Amino acid sequence: MPPRILVTRHVYPEAIAILEAAGDVQYNDTSAGLSADQLQAAVADKQALVCQLTDRIDAAVMDAASELKVIANVAVGFDNIDIPVATGRGILVTNTPGVLTDTTADLAFALLMAAGRRIAEADRFLRSGQWHQWEIDLFSGHDIHGHTLGILGLGRIGLGMAKRAQGFGMRVIYHDLERAAPEVEDEYGIEYVDRETLFRDSDFLSVHVPLNDRTRHMVGSAEFELMKPTAVLVNTSRGPVVDERALAEALESGQVASAGLDVFEDEPTVEPRLLALENVVLVPHIGSASIKTRTRMCTMAAKNAAAVLAGQAPPNPVNPELLDAE
Ligand code: GLV
Repeated sequence: MPPRILVTRHVYPEAIAILEAAGDVQYNDTSAGLSADQLQAAVADKQALVCQLTDRIDAAVMDAASELKVIANVAVGFDNIDIPVATGRGILVTNTPGVLTDTTADLAFALLMAAGRRIAEADRFLRSGQWHQWEIDLFSGHDIHGHTLGILGLGRIGLGMAKRAQGFGMRVIYHDLERAAPEVEDEYGIEYVDRETLFRDSDFLSVHVPLNDRTRHMVGSAEFELMKPTAVLVNTSRGPVVDERALAEALESGQVASAGLDVFEDEPTVEPRLLALENVVLVPHIGSASIKTRTRMCTMAAKNAAAVLAGQAPPNPVNPELLDAE
C-alpha cells in the first residue's frame, strides 16, 4: 500500500507533484489550515506530515499519529514543533535551510533601510495629501553608509546581512554564542564583540537567532537601555525573541529611534501600541516570500518527506541523531 501523506495547507504545486509520486496525498489546499481537532483526525493514519510554521505540532498531534515517520516543515525555523517529543518517538523532523538565506537577508536589509530612512512613514504622509513643499528637515532619518551594523546571531542569514552591509560601507560587529573562524571574520569583514558592546555600539541592530528557551525575550528593556537613541532595531527571526511591549515603550520614549519588524510575538496579532507608532515599519512575516524561494522551500520539504518514505535519509534533518541510531 502506498504511504499516506498529509499536507496541512496550501503550498506551491511543484511540491504536490513530488509528494504524489511518493504516496497518497491528503491535501488541505486552503490557507486557513486545520483546527487542532481536524489536524489530529487527519494525521491519524499518515506516515508523513508536510506542515508550516503556523501549524502547532505538539505531543497531542503526535499522540494521534501512531504511524508518523516524518514531519517536514516548510520553514527553516522549527519552533512550532516539539522536537524532543518527535525525537522520543522516532519521528524525523526536517526543515528548509539555505534556500531562503538571501531572500530573508534582502528583506531584513530592506527593513533596515525603510526604518532608517523613514520610507513607510514618508509614503503614508505623501499619500494622505500632506506634502506641500520641500523642507530642509522633512523626514530626515539616519544614514546607513558609514554606520555600524550589529548582528545578533551569526548564522546563514546573519552572514547574508554582513555581505550586504559591506556594499554599503558599514562597519559590521556581531555577537553569537561562538566566535566565527578567523577566515570567516576576514571574508565578511566582521568583528566579534561581547553582547553589551553589540547593543551599545550598533546604529542598526539586526536579530538572527532561532527561537528557543535561551533566546525568548533576549532583546528587552535592559537591552534597549544600552542602545543609542538613534539606533534602529530589525527583527526577521521570530517575534518572541524581542519583548514587544518593551520595544513599544522604547520607541514611544525615544530610547531607540525606530524599528523594522517582520515577526511578532503572537502572530497575526500585533501589539496595538506598535500599530499606533509612526517610527516602526511592520510587515506580515514575509522574510522568505519571493515566488522562487517559497517554491523551493515547498519542494525541499516535499523531497525530505519523500526521502523518508522511501527509506532514505532526508537531506535536511533537524534531529539527525535518529539517523545515527539506525
Ligand atoms: C520563516 O520564518 C522560516 O522559518 O522559514
